[in-house]
Amino acid sequence: MLKIILVLALITLPLMGETFTFKRRGVTVQAPSLEEMQKKVAPKTLPIFELHDQKEKKYVGIPFSELLTAVYGKNWQATEELLFTCKDGYQPTVPAAEFLKYPSYLSYSIEGQKFVVDNLSQNEKNIDLSPFYLVWDTITHPELRKQGMGNWPYQVIAVDLVQFKDRFPNLAPPARSSPQVVRGFLTFRSNCLACHSVNGDGAPKSVELNYPVSVTEYYKEAWLEKWILSPTNLRFNSTMPALSTSDPKKDVKDILAYLKAMAKQKIKPREH
Ligand code: HEC
Repeated sequence: MLKIILVLALITLPLMGETFTFKRRGVTVQAPSLEEMQKKVAPKTLPIFELHDQKEKKYVGIPFSELLTAVYGKNWQATEELLFTCKDGYQPTVPAAEFLKYPSYLSYSIEGQKFVVDNLSQNEKNIDLSPFYLVWDTITHPELRKQGMGNWPYQVIAVDLVQFKDRFPNLAPPARSSPQVVRGFLTFRSNCLACHSVNGDGAPKSVELNYPVSVTEYYKEAWLEKWILSPTNLRFNSTMPALSTSDPKKDVKDILAYLKAMAKQKIKPREH
């Protein structure tokens, strides 16, 4: 008996006192401990196909959408993005729509294993995941396995409900844009922003696509579509990679809808 208590204490000790901060547009709403979160929403143990090391394991975590509702009320769903903060200050965002579409869990342990993972794609081993790690139900929704690991932040300590404009003032699509334009913005952001900017927002020194003249104004749409789907078909020595999402033909149309919408919203880039 004493042994069991000791083991339990050892497992839970590192987590005691860890809090998770919930903010709305930068302002703290609540900062509950793990215990307090467990009281709000019962944790679950469920099999997850882990994308970082391509193995199936049993994660213990709190259903995240339910937790958001318990903390913010149902209106968290009206937000555009969830901005996470990790221990080292890294701040990835996940569109709110993902949480409405797929079940995710704020995990804090792995059954029968240490709370660590190997990141095969970056050749890193034994990465500490604590205090919290956002995981997705890749067993019930295998299509999530194709999305990549961008939506799986580890060592998370806070979440903030933000609007596109808060994060990307010059890049956000115009207010009340169509769903296609918003989709295009999200696809652009995850596939193009590493090398391009729009109104100066994006990777520094990247190829600007909107200011002062949009690419949609000096290139014909059909050529742009061909270019984005396969740059080397047009220019043999291009270093730009072809768009490689799960549905590039549809996604390129969304991206062009976004770029056309931005052509009507030109903002002079800020000085860097
Ligand atoms: C790895 C970097 C990289 C990524 C990612 C990238 N591009 Fe490019 N892109 C370039 C470079 C470099 C050029 C300059 C021309 C060249 O290399 O042939 C370019 C050129 C362009 C041009 C032509 C600009 C002009 O004025 O001639 C467009 C349009 C474009 N990219 C759109 C996109 C879109 C849309 C995406 C996302 C689906 C994207 N690019 C992703 C590197 C990238």
